[in-house]
Amino acid sequence: MRPQALVTGGAQGIGRAVAETLAAQGWQVVAADRDEAALGWVTDHADTVTGAVIDVTDAHDITRVLDAMPAPDVVVNCAGIAAQLLPLKQIERGAFEQMLRVNTGGTFLVAREAARRMQGGAIINIASRGYLGGAGAAHYVASKAAVVGMTRAMAVELRWRGISVNAVAPGMVETRMIADFTPGMRERLTRLEPSGTALQPDTIAGAVGYLASPAGRALSGQVLLVDGGKSLGVYPC
Ligand SMILES: NC(=O)c1ccc[n+]([C@@H]2O[C@H](COP(=O)([O-])OP(=O)(O)OC[C@H]3O[C@@H](n4cnc5c(N)ncnc54)[C@H](O)[C@@H]3O)[C@@H](O)[C@H]2O)c1
Repeated sequence: MRPQALVTGGAQGIGRAVAETLAAQGWQVVAADRDEAALGWVTDHADTVTGAVIDVTDAHDITRVLDAMPAPDVVVNCAGIAAQLLPLKQIERGAFEQMLRVNTGGTFLVAREAARRMQGGAIINIASRGYLGGAGAAHYVASKAAVVGMTRAMAVELRWRGISVNAVAPGMVETRMIADFTPGMRERLTRLEPSGTALQPDTIAGAVGYLASPAGRALSGQVLLVDGGKSLGVYPC
């Protein structure tokens, strides 16, 4: 039997690239997402990828999906939301809570339910370079910093059960999330990229594929910044 992987947010963007990469590397993948229409891509990969509709903030949805598959060897928490850049004083409490509910709470619920079933393997949480800080996104930054903290806490607990837990923190990646930003915001963010352009989802999927591999599982509790060096800051040269 092929090893089993669950990828949330697998309908598009980084999650879809991760699902395709893992399938190509020999995994049997369940791509789970709340966007049923966008999950249609899996029909062209029916041998290795199946789609499942899920809301990662709903514990019943998560158990339904996990109970319908063999215990996963790898879980990739990729489902997430972002928002237009807003100064702190304009961020509504509801928007803040929703960001934490999906990005942090969803990662927590999926990891918890998966860990109850896993017999070893790897959990990989997609954070963001933004966890280090950034203007105009206090709620997003908070949600991703919490994912990093939770990754380290889970890594400590789960290492005794042969489960590695790591985070991948991407810089700006060309996906629908970015396409949804206003042109002005996209331009401002792109200017901050060392390469002057956004990364491709496949690049992030490559890092996830490594962490899922036997060699990659020697890492645990780490944050892999896949950001072209943006996290090093900007210096005159
Ligand atoms: N694109 C970037 O620049 C970037 C940078 C750093 C981190 N990330 C992170 O990468 C992850 C994937 O983002 P992306 O850029 O591929 O965005 P995307 O919008 O293309 O994909 C996100 C997917 O998550 C799904 N999703 C959202 N809420 C969900 C929920 N409650 N339940 C189930 N599915 C849900 C969406 O339907 C969508 O298919 C996110 O966690 C995001 O924060 C993205």
